[in-house]
Amino acid sequence: MSAKPWRDVIAVDDLERNWVTRVQLGDRLIAIYDTPSGIHASLALCNHGGADLCDGYFDGHVIECPLHQGAFDVRDGRPVAAPATRPMRIFETRVQDGMVQLRI
Ligand code: FES
Repeated sequence: MSAKPWRDVIAVDDLERNWVTRVQLGDRLIAIYDTPSGIHASLALCNHGGADLCDGYFDGHVIECPLHQGAFDVRDGRPVAAPATRPMRIFETRVQDGMVQLRI
């Protein structure tokens, strides 16, 4: 099975610095996180109740959901605060020619 292709999603210069940026990709909303360890990405909608994580609070590597304050580590998707209990869906990222790319 071949790996998914890399897709351009947003210019690095258009990211909110040290924060989360919402991107629409087809019918999916994606959250792009600018962090001290690089750029990370996940589905934007929380897997607990469907809130938009891009409206949440972002602190370094943790995104806190705006609805019930569940939280996830954006580096590996693992839940770090209840009521979030399942890992969020994350995507492999890289930067190429000033563009953030996702394998999606
Ligand atoms: S919708 Fe995100 S924690 Fe409930």
